[in-house]
Amino acid sequence: MKLLQRLFIVLLVAGSFGATAQLVPTLREDAKMKTFIDALMKQMTLEEKLGQLNLPGSGDIVTGQAGNSDIAKKIEQGKVGGLFNIKSVAKIKEVQKLAVEKSRLKIPLMFGMDVIHGYETVFPIPLGLSCSWDMDLVKRSAQIAAGEASADGINWTFSPMVDIARDARWGRIAEGSGEDPYLGSQIAKAMVAGYQGTDYSKNNTIMACVKHYALYGAAEAGRDYNTTDMSRQRMYNDYFPPYKAAVDAGVGSVMASFNEVDGVPATANKWLMTDVLRKQWGFKGFVVTDYTGITEMVDHGIGDTQTVAARALMAGIDMDMVSESILNRSPQSLKEGKVTMAQIDAACRRILEAKYKLGLFSDPYKYCDENRAKNEIFTDANRKQARLTAAQSFVLLKNQNNILPLKKTGSIAFIGPLADNKVNMPGTWSVAANFSKATSVLTGLKETVGDKVKILYAKGSNLDADSAFEERATMFGKSLGRDKRSAAVILQEALDVASQADMIVAVLGESAEMSGESSSRTNIEIPEIQKDLLKALLKTGKPVVLVLFTGRPLVLKWENENVPAILNVWFGGSEAGYAIADVLFGDVNPSGKLTTTFPQNIGQVPMYYATKNTGRRLDNTKWFEKFRSNYLDVSNDPVYPFGFGLSYTSFKYSDIKLSSTSLKGNQTLTASVTITNTGNYDGKEVVQLYIRDLVGSVTRPVKELKGFQKVALKAGETKTVSFSISPEDLKFYNYDLKYDWEPGEFVIMIGGNSKDVKMGSVTWNK
Ligand code: BGC
Repeated sequence: MKLLQRLFIVLLVAGSFGATAQLVPTLREDAKMKTFIDALMKQMTLEEKLGQLNLPGSGDIVTGQAGNSDIAKKIEQGKVGGLFNIKSVAKIKEVQKLAVEKSRLKIPLMFGMDVIHGYETVFPIPLGLSCSWDMDLVKRSAQIAAGEASADGINWTFSPMVDIARDARWGRIAEGSGEDPYLGSQIAKAMVAGYQGTDYSKNNTIMACVKHYALYGAAEAGRDYNTTDMSRQRMYNDYFPPYKAAVDAGVGSVMASFNEVDGVPATANKWLMTDVLRKQWGFKGFVVTDYTGITEMVDHGIGDTQTVAARALMAGIDMDMVSESILNRSPQSLKEGKVTMAQIDAACRRILEAKYKLGLFSDPYKYCDENRAKNEIFTDANRKQARLTAAQSFVLLKNQNNILPLKKTGSIAFIGPLADNKVNMPGTWSVAANFSKATSVLTGLKETVGDKVKILYAKGSNLDADSAFEERATMFGKSLGRDKRSAAVILQEALDVASQADMIVAVLGESAEMSGESSSRTNIEIPEIQKDLLKALLKTGKPVVLVLFTGRPLVLKWENENVPAILNVWFGGSEAGYAIADVLFGDVNPSGKLTTTFPQNIGQVPMYYATKNTGRRLDNTKWFEKFRSNYLDVSNDPVYPFGFGLSYTSFKYSDIKLSSTSLKGNQTLTASVTITNTGNYDGKEVVQLYIRDLVGSVTRPVKELKGFQKVALKAGETKTVSFSISPEDLKFYNYDLKYDWEPGEFVIMIGGNSKDVKMGSVTWNK
């Protein structure tokens, strides 16, 4: 009755104010869904309701034998809401059948997966993808991932991962979009739109899950899962925006993070899960734990399993991944008054709503079309898109004397432990990848330019001198095939090969599993044995290019000083071998820009561009002064700043032009520069807008990214790039967490990276 009243009122309002017509069908749909779920929930027992909240680990479901698995019994008893990381329509169909044919209420299951950067067609790791600064490309990569995953039975992805990360030690920096909340928010929005489309009615869109809420990237000392502790100002201004952007974009689900927030693990943090997420941000979807997040709270030290399960549920968790403690412990907690039926009902409703929206009640096999699986996965078109996306993610860090692009003649020695290995190419978190289908650097090169260039190869070194380290760093079937010969023999072989070539390309860096989950490092340099190889190759006197694989910012001070050219290729995905050839030989001009600061030294981390001044700011002309905020042994500068990246061409920026220097209220400021491509290649430039609020009621960063545009310029071409700035761009969360702007003076900066900018200044009054 209440809902009908609401509907009636909204219809009235819509009619009288001429509001958009879409409101009406949406509300009708909502009302239909509510009626359906009300009726269903009336029939559900407590156990069945709790079953919907249960997302167990799927164990080893083998095609044709799902019925005999442990999980099968639970599904038949209605004790399972969904499963995750099961691959293939055949397996998924089999378990779905158990749910819709053998369970009492025939409620279909959801199928989740970590589709993080592509499915079988693998796109660059998210950190690499973010360096494209191209939101259409980002969105398209998510769309293709959704298309392939849904063709294989998946309807829910545990992505996007939007954790702001400013500490290069943390391995999971690879999985996010870097250090900046503005860029991170744009990417969050683009990914959600890519996965979900405008609704879930189609069978090639899937539900997204923004993670890991919240602050997971701020783990102390960069050690995974570690404690986080920060001020509310920092949370709201720097770490929350991408999660909120995903919520604003309509993300269907949220994953809780493992870490604590304000002394309470996120999984039991009611302030986070209910007050901020639902009350302040208006989130309407469901919240899932991260893996055994609930039972891990016993180790966190906030109670036994019974207590932590109750706390999670009452904090606002709707679905329990793996631990099964909400399912098993809630009946007792309900008896003891530690959880309420209202909370269980609310959680159950949210899961059923997600299934309803995905269309599973109308057709539980909506995502189980074997023809789609055959025809829509790892297609030529998808691979082509992945190849061009990978090329856009690469960042050219150095190119002395235009050594790159390489000429398609003569002989080139490709040397390094990462040059001839395909399993390493997809990068971390590529659970659906078919490693055998990835292309190694060597194969990519041979297929692209092999008819023109004589390509030589030697391994040169193992990944690391320490075989036990190498084992830890090449897990999940990603072995680099450790060479048992002595380091000296392996090196000599490489030098012999190098001696036959006109030039050398060293393919070095991290293996795929040296970043990602539980892959934190306290030494973020290229492993020493590979550095020794690089030094030996440089000593030959032949030109050397470094093709660098990495999932995090590395300390590259020595390399920057000594290697003539460095192309950072992150982990570009299944097609990266081709993309590397495209960029090295100049068929694609690199245009990626870093989204994370590269420090000089591990001691500088956490490091990021949007710092605050302190009361003991260092004068720009010096790198050290006693009693100033600095180090005795190293300047405060990074090796490569946020936003940095070179091109085969060069761009000249004019001074900044401002439409006004004195503004008031809601006026709009236009800030522009003209940019000229002064080199010989057509190219793309990511033009970045930064703003500084000079005086605030609380301290403000020295600059904050507030806009960017990626523009294509032909050789010799000039374009004007304009940003329109409104007070909305000046807002921040003040001491009382009020989101507003404060009048005063603002510095407007535009440039090709966060360090080299053209500046102007305006006063803006209320
Ligand atoms: C990770 C999540 C992931 C989940 C499910 C956890 O270990 O932290 O990011 O989605 O596993 O595979």
